[in-house]
Amino acid sequence: MRILRTVAEMRAARREAIASPVLLGLVPTMGALHAGHVSLVRAARAECAAVVASIFVNPTQFGPNEDFSRYPRTFDDDCAQLEAEGVDLLFAPAVEEMYPRGPRTLVEVEQIGDKLDGMTRPGHFVGVATVVAKLFHIVGPDRAYFGQKDAAQVAVLRAMVEDLNFPLELVVCPTVRDADGLALSSRNRYLTAEEREQARAIPGALLRIPAGLSVEQLRAWLRKRLDQTPGLRLEYAEVVDPRTLQPVTDLRGGALVAVSVQVGRTRLIDNVLLESER
Ligand code: PAJ
Repeated sequence: MRILRTVAEMRAARREAIASPVLLGLVPTMGALHAGHVSLVRAARAECAAVVASIFVNPTQFGPNEDFSRYPRTFDDDCAQLEAEGVDLLFAPAVEEMYPRGPRTLVEVEQIGDKLDGMTRPGHFVGVATVVAKLFHIVGPDRAYFGQKDAAQVAVLRAMVEDLNFPLELVVCPTVRDADGLALSSRNRYLTAEEREQARAIPGALLRIPAGLSVEQLRAWLRKRLDQTPGLRLEYAEVVDPRTLQPVTDLRGGALVAVSVQVGRTRLIDNVLLESER
């Protein structure tokens, strides 16, 4: 008889114990699908025997004055894209199905969930963590696919998976960008032609960070580039550890550089990971 003392050993032994492992992949989304979402589906398709996508515009992650009611809903088009990508199952519940008694039991990731968007959108990551935990329980995936585009979300969900022992692996896929560098987002469709033009300054800054800056110089450089472009208002520019979201003091160990920018009425987020010099 094998005696297992750690959670990791127990999980691994369980996997070995059951017949040939067949991976189930989950790609959670809020719909209004674009090539960024499709990249997650393709990654799942390449690695998993069965792929589940979900479309659920989750009310608990929107603040009272945010865009829940006007969030783009393009269900038929989304279904066609998922079908074409070979998704096996689409979970698309109504709000009452997910929250029959309203939001009651909540998942809060302390120390991380209040950073970046958790700071500017209080309660946002409680909504995200709660709905993703529910999706994990409902679908039971072996792997779940998320985009680096939402770097703070990744940090929150990684911590949740670790802290609550979800028996799955988070897979993080690179940010997909338009030809001019703007990160794809369902919210880009809110932009007017002029705002879309102004928004180019975001990748224009993040993808051209000069070498050799200190953290303070980098923050000042980002503020200058992003706050001085007409039409843009910088909400935050943070230089943090990608796992803890705590500020770093030295770029030589690598860092997540994350910004949130208000373009007209639309808030856009983007980030880059600076590699460690060591
Ligand atoms: P949504 O904004 O629809 O994004 C679904 C997934 O697509 C997320 O993992 C997001 O990081 C990823 N994604 C979005 N734009 C991307 C891009 N340009 N490149 C690569 N990946 C991209 O994030 C959510 O929904 C919700 O918070 C959710 C996790 C579904 C919980 O409600």
